[in-house]
Formats: sequence, structure tokens, C-alpha cells
Amino acid sequence: MALREQRGSVRTAVVWDALEAALAGAPRDVVDLGGGTGGFAVRLAESGHRVRVVDPSPDALAALARRAGEVDVDVDVTGLQGDVTDLVEVVGAGSADVVLCHGVLEVVDPVVALQHVGEVLRPGGLLSLIVGQRHAAVLARAMAGHFQQARSLLDDQQPVDARTGRRFTVSEVAALLDDAGFAVTTVHAVRVFTDLVPAGLIDLEPGAASALVDLERAVAERSEYLPLAAQLHVLACRS
Ligand SMILES: C[S@@+](CC[C@H](N)C(=O)[O-])C[C@H]1O[C@@H](n2cnc3c(N)ncnc32)[C@H](O)[C@@H]1O
Repeated sequence: MALREQRGSVRTAVVWDALEAALAGAPRDVVDLGGGTGGFAVRLAESGHRVRVVDPSPDALAALARRAGEVDVDVDVTGLQGDVTDLVEVVGAGSADVVLCHGVLEVVDPVVALQHVGEVLRPGGLLSLIVGQRHAAVLARAMAGHFQQARSLLDDQQPVDARTGRRFTVSEVAALLDDAGFAVTTVHAVRVFTDLVPAGLIDLEPGAASALVDLERAVAERSEYLPLAAQLHVLACRS
């Protein structure tokens, strides 16, 4: 496996565990909001799901098309240019069994985004949400010497900068989802250790990558590790 690919799979192993378990069975209509270059979308399409990626970036959608063209099987994955605000017009109300919203709430209005996600999901549909977790981000900024940024992130729910966007605590995400009419089913800690480990160690030390994945899996469901996680992966049902 190429080093970049290996690092990517270490970062997303815990997410895939939960997602594949939740989507086992019949093919679903999946919308990947802010799906970017299709890292999640194409793999889901390879498993037989019908996937529409909605993203404002033409470059990302072009990369998605290339990625979809490189896989060995025929995949049902469509790139659609759009964003959170026109999601319902682009994919249609009540047209999805599953919506992925991974790494997007950080840079959009989360209340508006979740409202539109709720509109495109069928009743009982599933939301897979990944957000940056506030406490780990505070620690990371402080460790990098960005003390003012760390201080601002402590309590401030507005984005510290437009590029990295806002961060969330578990209770902030739970409240947002509750207000938007979602019932949380699982919350997993993602990348508790991975971002703290030197990349060279994961890349070069034999067996390190798989041992790290084992460790990430071992803590993913332990609530005491949630505040240490770089990201939270939440599965929630539209009520
Ligand atoms: C951090 S990337 C995440 C990509 C992908 N979801 C993943 O997890 O690999 C954020 C994505 O959100 C998209 N994005 C930015 N603003 C958006 C908006 N207003 N509505 C929808 N997507 C947006 C970006 O183009 C980018 O592809």
C-alpha cells in the first residue's frame, strides 16, 4: 500500500467500521454533502450504493470523476455542483436514505446545514456526521505555540479562521442534532492518537500502522477518549 494511502486508512479506519456496519444490506441512496474528491463516495459506490456527491468545488468534482474512473468495477457515483444552501434543490427533498456530512459543518452554518440535510433524508434516514473536536484542537494549537488561537477556541463557537473553521464538543453536536430533529445512535472518537504520532513512525516502522489502528479501535467507543479525539463521528437518525 502506498504511504499516503496507508496514512489515510489509519485516519479513517474507525469511521469505516461504523459506516460499513450501519450500511450493511441493501444498496442505499447516499448523498455525500461536501464529499470533495470522493474518498468516501467512491468506496461506498464500490459496495453497491448509489452515491451523489454535492460539492461547490469544480476541482474536487473533477478529482472525484477521475477517482471513480480508476476503480475496477462499474460504480454509480455522480458529482453535482452545489452547496449546503441549495442541497434540497440539487438532490431533491426526501431523496436520500443516507447523508454523509464529513468535515463540512466546520465551514458552514451548522444549523442551516442540518436543516437541509433533514429535508433531503427520508424519514428514518441516517446521517453520518464527522466534525472537528474542540478540546483536541485547543491542545494542538497550544502545542504548536499558537496560544492566542488556542485561547479563542476554548469557548468560541465561531471559526477561528476561515480555512480550518469551527470546532465542536460532544455536547454541542448533540444539541445541534437534537434541535434539528435527529436522534443520535453512536458517537465515536476518531484520530485520538494518529495526529500526535510522527508520520515517519507510521510509514516506516513495520507493523506500526496496523497496531495504531488497533489502538484507535480500542478507544473509539470509550467516552473518556472523546475529548482527546481530533474528530467525532456521529451516526444519527432522522426522526
Ligand atoms: C475538509 S473537506 C472534506 C471532504 C470529504 N467530505 C472528506 O471527508 O474527505 C470539506 C469539503 O467541503 C466542501 N465545502 C466547502 N464549503 C461548502 C459548502 N458551503 N457546502 C458544501 N460543501 C462545502 C469543500 O469543497 C470540501 O470538499
